[in-house]
Amino acid sequence: PTITYTDATGAARSVEATVGDSVMETAVRNGVPGIVAECGGSLSCATCHVFVDADDFASLPAMEEMEDEMLWGAAVDRQDTSRLCCQIKVTDGMDLHVTTPETQV
Ligand code: FES
Repeated sequence: PTITYTDATGAARSVEATVGDSVMETAVRNGVPGIVAECGGSLSCATCHVFVDADDFASLPAMEEMEDEMLWGAAVDRQDTSRLCCQIKVTDGMDLHVTTPETQV
């Protein structure tokens, strides 16, 4: 699986991901900037907010209510394709594109 992270300046980096990790863990492990993940994936910080590529968004499992609530409460400039990437699991053959918000640099 491959995850491509684009930051707010437009710089993109693709990393090889491990099935079962989250998209947040993959970023942290690879030193991808823009994903702070203060809470370590326990759904309480929203500093792992990403905008998922529209085509990819549809193929992801729907978000749980808790994630939805965190996004409303804590994420700056939420969009239709916003997700908290600690809640996105890497799956076999995944080719995911996400962009980090301007506020996370
Ligand atoms: Fe804190 Fe995702 S890492 S909500």
